Amino acid sequence: MAIADRAESVPKQTTVSRDTFTTRLGVIAATLGSAVGLGNIWKFPYLTGANGGAAFIIVYLLCTLVVGLPVMITEHVIGRTAREDAIASLKKLAPGKAWWLIGASGILASFLIMAFYTEVAAWVFAYIVKAVQGAILSTDPAVTEAAFADLVSSPVQSLVWQWIVLAFIASIIALGVSKGIERMTKRLMPALFGILIIVVIRSITLPGAGQGLEFLLKPDFSKVTGATVLTALGLSFFKLSVGMGTMITYGSYFLDDQDIPSTATRVMLSDVMVSFLAGLAIFPAVFAFGFQPESGPSLLFITIPAVFSSMPFGQVFMILFFVLTAIAATGAMLSLFEVPVAYLEGTLNWSRKKATIAVMIGLAIVGSTAALSESLLAHIRFGGIGTFFDLWDYLTSNVLLPVGGLFLCVFAGWVLRWDKLKQWLSNNGTLDNEGVVRGYYWIVKYVTPILVLIILLTGLGII
Ligand code: PFF
Repeated sequence: MAIADRAESVPKQTTVSRDTFTTRLGVIAATLGSAVGLGNIWKFPYLTGANGGAAFIIVYLLCTLVVGLPVMITEHVIGRTAREDAIASLKKLAPGKAWWLIGASGILASFLIMAFYTEVAAWVFAYIVKAVQGAILSTDPAVTEAAFADLVSSPVQSLVWQWIVLAFIASIIALGVSKGIERMTKRLMPALFGILIIVVIRSITLPGAGQGLEFLLKPDFSKVTGATVLTALGLSFFKLSVGMGTMITYGSYFLDDQDIPSTATRVMLSDVMVSFLAGLAIFPAVFAFGFQPESGPSLLFITIPAVFSSMPFGQVFMILFFVLTAIAATGAMLSLFEVPVAYLEGTLNWSRKKATIAVMIGLAIVGSTAALSESLLAHIRFGGIGTFFDLWDYLTSNVLLPVGGLFLCVFAGWVLRWDKLKQWLSNNGTLDNEGVVRGYYWIVKYVTPILVLIILLTGLGII
């Protein structure tokens, strides 16, 4: 649908012709591209492995349903209505108030997430090359561990791969919202699903795969504690890219007649499906070859190569697996990169090219703290949390995003309130979705904020 065809349900744009997504499918591809990422393939499996398998998945699904999804709808509607970057959107809907600080915290969060995210992506990109060369083809985890240690403990390799990733993402961002982000994610998402299905079929048809399936499906609630629930909550924010204005920014590129509750629900369901499929791709194979699932964040880089090396045609599946992971990471990084770029372009009126280059340099500087956290900066540790890498991860997932999400819910439920939300989410009455919007409103006003507050305070050990 052309931009000019939009219904008149939103305030007129203030800036001259903003670049936006151009088709409904494009909106879904880009939004799903943001949600699906290393969260599904790197974080979800190792957190599931470390926190009791199916029991953790159940808590995570509940958090996604009553927290992640409502926050996503809230962000989309704020962005689509205001049609500005994360900070300016909140300023526009609440002039003279401090709500824009959520957007500011979002820009900070996007830098901090990108700092460690680009490093994990850097390892993934490096692993594609290593898999092609056969350098990580060994059934002995001690060998794959040494290969990983060699990569992360080398400052030069860590930094250079991170810069390659940053330059790659910047080159897509510079092309713009429709020609860069939308076009790229529309191609990548189907490829991602296709490859994932191939790897899942390989994994679940291995002899001995049943144990892995059981691990994914049979809950062990004894491992669930307050901290585990906070981890699940943090994961649900991180997974759906919410609590930090990414979805406000993407929402500002939505079509006027996009059905927001339905789009967000579809994205959430597809994202959960990808996580589950990633679990199916990983755990049955891990168990089939006698490896342990609880090996933490290194599951992807140490255990997985050994697992793939153990199966027939393992090298091919290993290459496919890391290409798949790189694709997932790309869509997510595009959205993280877009948050500050949109701000510099929209509020400060910079050209897109200048904004992209500035953000790329900024990210390379902040990102170096994570890239060097296993080498030159390994001696700097933050209490029980760990290195710079771990600090940025913890601070964003467990603090910034939940706090941002909490305030967004309060903003929607108690400041925007029912009449506006009903009008905006029904596209000015053109959608027959009052029941859905009512359910959303009730949850976002009462349930989500209270739940997030309790989990935050308990998980952080405050109560
Ligand atoms: N949702 C992405 C993932 O699961 O990998 C990570 C992410 C992207 C988090 C964008 C936050 C964000 F704004």
